[in-house]
Amino acid sequence: MPGIEQSAGLAFRAIPELAWLADGENVGSERHRALIAQGACFVAVDDRDRPIGFLSAAAEGDALHIWELDVHLDWQGRGIGRALLEKGIERGRSLGFAAVTLTTFRDVEWNAPFYRKAGFRILNADKIDHRLATLLGEEASHGMPSERRCAMRLEFD
Ligand SMILES: CC(C)(COP(=O)(O)OP(=O)(O)OC[C@H]1O[C@@H](n2cnc3c(N)ncnc32)[C@H](O)[C@@H]1OP(=O)(O)O)[C@@H](O)C(=O)NCCC(=O)NCCS
Repeated sequence: MPGIEQSAGLAFRAIPELAWLADGENVGSERHRALIAQGACFVAVDDRDRPIGFLSAAAEGDALHIWELDVHLDWQGRGIGRALLEKGIERGRSLGFAAVTLTTFRDVEWNAPFYRKAGFRILNADKIDHRLATLLGEEASHGMPSERRCAMRLEFD
């Protein structure tokens, strides 16, 4: 999974100001194991059963929070990310959560616009709860440009 995240991140080389993300730290195996144990992670595999993408999510308050969604660079743009996202949303609904949340880039085509098509909405500043505000703050402290970051929520009926 760290290898997939590393490869997926290369997509950011296409955006000069965010190209540094391609060389950023990846989530470690221990953290992946802990997330898998919580039961809301999905892996996409190729025809030889080799992992090529994954979604990691976990319970956070009333929501299922998506921590990671990555597709290997060689496999991007073929509908795999959308399929993983749909699985995650389905799992959030079936587990009885009120919503699915995440943080992402507002203006990167395969981030907020992609999630918007799946039903997520960007939360305005007055709608961002303490948890998501803390998360955005932590991201900023790690060098993320906060004006380009946003929190999104898909509310279940
Ligand atoms: C985000 C990501 C998981 C999407 O997976 P994917 O398999 O490439 O996406 P899909 O083929 O299912 O495409 C879904 C939508 O993403 C967008 N998209 C994907 N790749 C894109 C690209 N290179 N340029 C522009 N839009 C793109 C399109 O809106 C597409 O919708 P469309 O089919 O209606 O045009 C993948 O691009 C990735 O790993 N990116 C790098 C890591 C990342 O940004 N993760 C999300 C962090 S919040």
